[in-house]
Amino acid sequence: MQIIERKQLRQKPAGGTQLGFGHYFTDYMFTMKYTADKGWHDAKIEPNEPKPFDLATSIFHYAQGIFEGMKAFRQPDGSIAVFRPDENWARMNRSATRMCIPNFPEDVVEEGLEELLKLDRDWIPAEPGTALYIRPTIVATRVMLGVHASTEYLFFIILSPVGSYYAHGLEPTKLVVEDKYTRATIGGTGEAKCLGNYAASMKAGEEAEEKGFDQVLWLDANEKKYVEEVGSMNMFFVIGGEVVTPALVGSILPGITRKSCIQILKDKGYRVSERRISIDEVIAAQENGTLDEAFGTGTAAVISPVGLIRYRDKDYTINGGKMGAVTKMLYDTITGIQYGTAPDPYGWKKIIK
Ligand code: COI
Repeated sequence: MQIIERKQLRQKPAGGTQLGFGHYFTDYMFTMKYTADKGWHDAKIEPNEPKPFDLATSIFHYAQGIFEGMKAFRQPDGSIAVFRPDENWARMNRSATRMCIPNFPEDVVEEGLEELLKLDRDWIPAEPGTALYIRPTIVATRVMLGVHASTEYLFFIILSPVGSYYAHGLEPTKLVVEDKYTRATIGGTGEAKCLGNYAASMKAGEEAEEKGFDQVLWLDANEKKYVEEVGSMNMFFVIGGEVVTPALVGSILPGITRKSCIQILKDKGYRVSERRISIDEVIAAQENGTLDEAFGTGTAAVISPVGLIRYRDKDYTINGGKMGAVTKMLYDTITGIQYGTAPDPYGWKKIIK
């Protein structure tokens, strides 16, 4: 793989909790181009610097683009661990298919990521709760305004040292159930990790933040009845000893942390159901005292307890606003594997020396 070295390295930020999420970027990036005649080609590592784009480039107009989120963790022996990258590449190619983007060679981007992490290894923060966030992205780069799939693309991976996704860290989040706007519909792009899904969610997110909430809890578009996801997290509820997460009906992102949690829960003997769960069932469980815990899962959010849900102007405080035992077990198990303080019985980590 070609590596273009930079002359001067960037100033690194102070680590720890003040890193926030997605504010700082490393020295290098991976890039690869696609053209109809050459396919995917010109994979390389180059200095992370701004790139000039013609303003008629199709990504700016029709958002034909997809992304992923992964994390690299510093291990106690100094090596680097990436959590389940093969799952992200596979999901990214499924998103690509949905968005008419040509599938990319997973082995080439895997090698690119490895080289990139080796070059930028000093950027991986060491403090507890921090990681190097990996953002692979594909954007349509043909200069053309017709509404057609592009014939040219840029694949890039940028890296960002991050702390907690939420400004308040592991403090339980406050969600408001969104019953006006919708995130995704069956047959739409909800299960693809495409750029437009996130743009479409911002209006509701902004209104929620103005009211003092962290995020919105999305309901299904048809009936505004079933819980879907949070946008940056998949949702789980612990109700009377059963751990319930909304089934992947086509409008929900198939989260990799979600999948990992389901496996851990099943292996530890919990009763886990992937099924449709209505907001009425959640509220009824809260009212009759059987809603023990609610939490979200995601690469950026890790395992985030949910302490409060507002639905139709009424606030419901879950588990006294505290992190529950199942949430804590999953948080400890997943982060133990990721940070190398516990064994990795599933072989989920890719280790880079
Ligand atoms: C992630 O968890 O990696 C996400 O993509 C969610 C959000 C930061 C967009």
